[in-house]
Amino acid sequence: MSKRSRLSNPYKRPDRFTVKAKDEGFSARSVFKLEEIERRFRVLPRGGRVLDLGCAPGSWSEFVARKGGGNTRLVGIDIQKVDSFPGTFLQRSISDIGPAELQALLGGPADLVLSDMAPFTTGNRLTDHVRQLALARLAFDCALQILKPGGNFVVKLFDGEEVQDFVLGVNRSFAKARRVRPQATRENSVEFFLVCLDFKG
Ligand SMILES: C[S@@+](CC[C@H](N)C(=O)[O-])C[C@H]1O[C@@H](n2cnc3c(N)ncnc32)[C@H](O)[C@@H]1O
Repeated sequence: MSKRSRLSNPYKRPDRFTVKAKDEGFSARSVFKLEEIERRFRVLPRGGRVLDLGCAPGSWSEFVARKGGGNTRLVGIDIQKVDSFPGTFLQRSISDIGPAELQALLGGPADLVLSDMAPFTTGNRLTDHVRQLALARLAFDCALQILKPGGNFVVKLFDGEEVQDFVLGVNRSFAKARRVRPQATRENSVEFFLVCLDFKG
């Protein structure tokens, strides 16, 4: 993408979060979405096992690794390559990996499942919403199978017609669930995160 088209695309335009991410050595500005979620909800275990779905280019995992201080067992999955990953990285689609393989990589049930997975957007709001929801469902199915009781789950969603049923379904599996729209989410984005705490098992 040329510099001019990057600047005209609101999703690519550098802002204060882009600058801060660079200054602090993170690979993407989206790190500040997870940072806000952590500040407000304390989702990260101190040590423990964390699965990061849709982890490329790696900023959420970098944040998890820094916070965990070397005691976290971190596994990241993405269809895109990650150059340097602070844990075990698999370049695969989440739809091609089973829970047994994930648990083996993590060394046991997960304390936290993160999903910032997003489809390549088309600009068509309905198509993007449906594709995003399909990824969120895969992430939720995965979380149900590998989270330990008491574990947490964070999933990205695009607001739209079908999202409410999904949210209600997820809510039933956790003691508490909150919709969060972090400050680092772009103004014109329909993105939000569902932060789910204390898996009932
Ligand atoms: C918004 S980015 C994630 C950014 C990441 N959290 C970070 O902070 O660096 C969304 C990612 O979801 C990935 N993704 C989309 N579909 C996927 C799938 N089926 N399986 C795994 N990853 C997928 C994309 O390749 C993309 O890298």
